[in-house]
Amino acid sequence: MTLGLAVTPMFGGRAVEAGEEWALSGPALVGIIAAARVAASLRINGCNNRIVHFDPIRNYHMTSFTFQTTRSVIVEPGSSGQLGALMAGLGCTNVLLVTDSGIMGLGLATAAIDGFSDAGVNLSIFADVVADPPEEVILSAVSDAKAKNVDGVVGLGGGSSMDVAKLLSFLLGSNQALSDIYGVGMCQGERLPLALAPTTAGTGSEVTPISIVTTGASEKKGVVSPQLLPDWAVLDADLTLDLPKHITAATGIDAMVHAIEAYTSKVKKNPMSDCLAKEALRLLGTNIRTVCENKDARQARSDMLLGSMLAGMAFSNAPVAAVHALAYPLGGHFHVPHGLSNSLVLPHVMRFNIPATRDAYAELASIVFPDVEQGSAEIMAVEMTRRLAQLADDLGLETRLRDVGVSQNQIPMLAEDAMKQTRLLVNNPREMTYDAALEIYQQAH
Ligand SMILES: NC(=O)c1ccc[n+]([C@@H]2O[C@H](COP(=O)([O-])OP(=O)(O)OC[C@H]3O[C@@H](n4cnc5c(N)ncnc54)[C@H](O)[C@@H]3O)[C@@H](O)[C@H]2O)c1
Ligand SMILES: [Fe+2]
Repeated sequence: MTLGLAVTPMFGGRAVEAGEEWALSGPALVGIIAAARVAASLRINGCNNRIVHFDPIRNYHMTSFTFQTTRSVIVEPGSSGQLGALMAGLGCTNVLLVTDSGIMGLGLATAAIDGFSDAGVNLSIFADVVADPPEEVILSAVSDAKAKNVDGVVGLGGGSSMDVAKLLSFLLGSNQALSDIYGVGMCQGERLPLALAPTTAGTGSEVTPISIVTTGASEKKGVVSPQLLPDWAVLDADLTLDLPKHITAATGIDAMVHAIEAYTSKVKKNPMSDCLAKEALRLLGTNIRTVCENKDARQARSDMLLGSMLAGMAFSNAPVAAVHALAYPLGGHFHVPHGLSNSLVLPHVMRFNIPATRDAYAELASIVFPDVEQGSAEIMAVEMTRRLAQLADDLGLETRLRDVGVSQNQIPMLAEDAMKQTRLLVNNPREMTYDAALEIYQQAH
């Protein structure tokens, strides 16, 4: 099934062919449904082609927005076995699979590898990705791939493997240097064909135009360009069944943070990202405890993967903000895994944001925690932050900075580094200052 969806409110709802703007294919595509609800509820003023009304509940007014995402998606247990056929369909004959040694050791790439031989596509493997990939890993993957003359790239793994695969496909296709593409919109030229299969739920990297690289000793930089969106996102819940509890919890909270920050993103928040963020939070909130407690919860695993993808679609178009900005220095300096870094600062940044996000947090509280008591927006917003902190604790995650090796005298350095994340901080609903960051880290300590 392939669907084309015209969401071009700026141009008055012009009809488009499937694939011209963006097209998604595959079963169980809740993103389509969410987006279709948006399309159905848009009212276009035929005279001046402006949206005059959107959401009667929130009295949302907006004149224009753009939305980009991965063109094609498969959501199906076992679907990583189709990667070979999908790459053959893109004209590839010699593909590089990018992953890490943990994934290889667990046999998670086996179905994909078998699929390549079934499809008659030559496959090489680069399994040297490490968490929070440094530049050297990407450069080493590039020289490996050049020597093998590959004509397509597959990323199978967590955000780290997918981010390396995305950069690799672009650097090979364009011949630009990595050092020239940091920042927003710096990529010029085309990438090689690319498919991504996440094994965590997760970063949503399979639907984001972003790759995160650790530069130097500790700083993280982003490459943000539409060329990094892959041809295919392949969501195979079977790959996530044996994800250890700690990684399941941390990556699941990362996905929740993507949706929360997208929903409250200051600059580009829009009706489509709102729909996707809310559905993502419903799926993630409903299933995160189940997947941490029950290893065989296949449907819940699939719903988590779907939720993390929808959150990825949301935050690609309504970017994340201060939670991520304050989390990055923890990953850089203390090698705290990305999801856990976010979880550690989440309740404290949210409390700081409440003056600007009271109503939005109150709305989300009922979605993530359906049994939350209804009250004033202020009470519900505060309760949302309290419950998220409780959730992390219940799932067995560390909840204090001191638990991950941060000492009191390192807090000023963290705050200084967080303030360098201007790409993210501009999206925060409340202005973040150095003093505020210092205070938040103190509270989290
Ligand atoms: N591109 C984006 O849009 C985006 C968004 C958020 C985060 N990120 C980046 O993604 C990276 C984090 O990715 P991540 O949290 O998915 O983790 P990861 O890819 O760094 O993997 C963490 C560990 O989990 C293991 N693992 C992964 N899947 C597993 C499975 N199914 N079973 C057992 N072990 C498994 C890996 O082998 C690794 O040891 C960071 O570099 C972060 O900055 C990118
Ligand atoms: Fe994240």
